[in-house]
Amino acid sequence: MLLKMKDVSKSFSGVQVLHDINLEVEEGEVHVLLGENGAGKSTIIKILTGAYTKDTGQIKWENEILEVAEPKDAIDAGIATIYQELNLIPELSVMENIFLGHEQKKRSKFSLLNRSAMKKRAKELMKRLGQNTDPDELVQNLGVGQQQLVEIAKALSLNAKLIIMDEPTSSLSGNEVEQLLQTVERLRKQGMTFIYISHRLEEIKRIGDRITILRDGTKVKTVDVNNTSIDEMITLMVGRTLNNKFPKIEFKKGNEGLRVERLKLTPESQEINFTAYAGEILGFSGLVGAGRTELMRGIFAADSIESGDIYIFGEKKKIRQPKDAIKEGIAFITEDRKEEGLFLDQPLYFNKTIAKLEQVKKNGLISVKGQKNIADKYVESLKIRPNNINLLARHLSGGNQQKVVIAKWLFTQAKVFIFDEPTRGIDVGAKVEVYNLINELVKSGACVIIVSSELPEILGMCDRIIVMHEGALTGDFNRDEVDQEIIMKAATGG
Ligand SMILES: Nc1ncnc2c1ncn2[C@@H]1O[C@H](COP(=O)(O)OP(=O)(O)OP(=O)(O)O)[C@@H](O)[C@H]1O
Ligand SMILES: [Mg+2]
Repeated sequence: MLLKMKDVSKSFSGVQVLHDINLEVEEGEVHVLLGENGAGKSTIIKILTGAYTKDTGQIKWENEILEVAEPKDAIDAGIATIYQELNLIPELSVMENIFLGHEQKKRSKFSLLNRSAMKKRAKELMKRLGQNTDPDELVQNLGVGQQQLVEIAKALSLNAKLIIMDEPTSSLSGNEVEQLLQTVERLRKQGMTFIYISHRLEEIKRIGDRITILRDGTKVKTVDVNNTSIDEMITLMVGRTLNNKFPKIEFKKGNEGLRVERLKLTPESQEINFTAYAGEILGFSGLVGAGRTELMRGIFAADSIESGDIYIFGEKKKIRQPKDAIKEGIAFITEDRKEEGLFLDQPLYFNKTIAKLEQVKKNGLISVKGQKNIADKYVESLKIRPNNINLLARHLSGGNQQKVVIAKWLFTQAKVFIFDEPTRGIDVGAKVEVYNLINELVKSGACVIIVSSELPEILGMCDRIIVMHEGALTGDFNRDEVDQEIIMKAATGG
């Protein structure tokens, strides 16, 4: 037994979010934490790594009691964490990042950094992960997947015995996901232990050994992955069975909603033309970096574009800044909720109504009561937990923050909805709620675009699928003429 948490509890301002958690992690296993948004997974991790302190209970590490008062205590014990937001410094090299904070000194009285030794060691560490990365390469020149591997190398350099990963694959593309999973499998074979959090059940099935399932801050049970089907995982997690993961409805394709003509993002980029219709869900597929987010940001005027025309329901519109886009009825649900989607230090009711404040204005003043009424409604329909509209957005779990971002834009009553990775970090049950809301939008005559890296989601929910590769459109398929292979082929430019 490497790690044993016994009866660990935690409350925030009087609300208990962890109830007597017992968790046992054996050496050399990949131990998965599974649970709905807000179940308490990240909180357990934060207690283990010293970001939060537990109220009661005990942590045993290699059979000794471990007090984790601050992050350093965890690192010294050999507990490393790979967070979703990577902690690397882009302007520094791979080697410098790996050894940042624990540089190897030369044993001279001038204590110069021993660069050549560190370089050699960095190379070895990356090799251990199956990578041939140049230690002198700047981190900013690496893709997200590679950067994550540098973080893992850093953990290895700190002699970690346990590596904790909280939703590591949610911002990776298909190839990068594969690479990360292989890295985990590889290190596990070498005896490394993992705590792994993910909402992607196929991934869990593949690399997990045991799963501890949490519901509402309480442990349901620990099961062996081999003896547990994905349906059983879902049932244990949400407390009921889930019959249809993609509640697709067929609806009549209506008038053109959004038409993009000869759009160029930069002088060098290719012209982009496409039309999205009311009554259909148009999916944008492609690898990470294919330019889908950039295209949507250009349409919304979040970034300036070089040239091109945008028509909303047949009328040409001038969109110079996001404010114009909102005025013309475009809603943009961004992929990065922390940077663009939410005011973290404002309560939920504020965040939900911010995109369309006029509607809650009374005599020119913003009505808190109006905001709260609307917030209540969406907290209900999206099952945002805890259902306390006065809570600061910062204090919500990752998935619940994402639901608030969605709610904010639903409230604008826009006509064109662009969802960029709408269900990133959202649990399987809540995904269905999001899809149902998207269905409602389609039924009400809105034009809906979904950018998603999850092929099952694209194939499960979209009527038409446009594929992008290196900034250009490389495919436009109807739902009934396409499968994963065809999309992948277009996505890799082939
Ligand atoms: N600093 C805080 N103050 C108040 N409440 C908090 C704080 N941090 C977490 N919580 C609450 O604790 C509960 C558990 O949150 P946690 O982030 O652990 O969930 P999670 O299982 O990681 O969910 P997700 O899958 O959405 O990431 C939630 O109800 C959350 O709102
Ligand atoms: Mg979390």
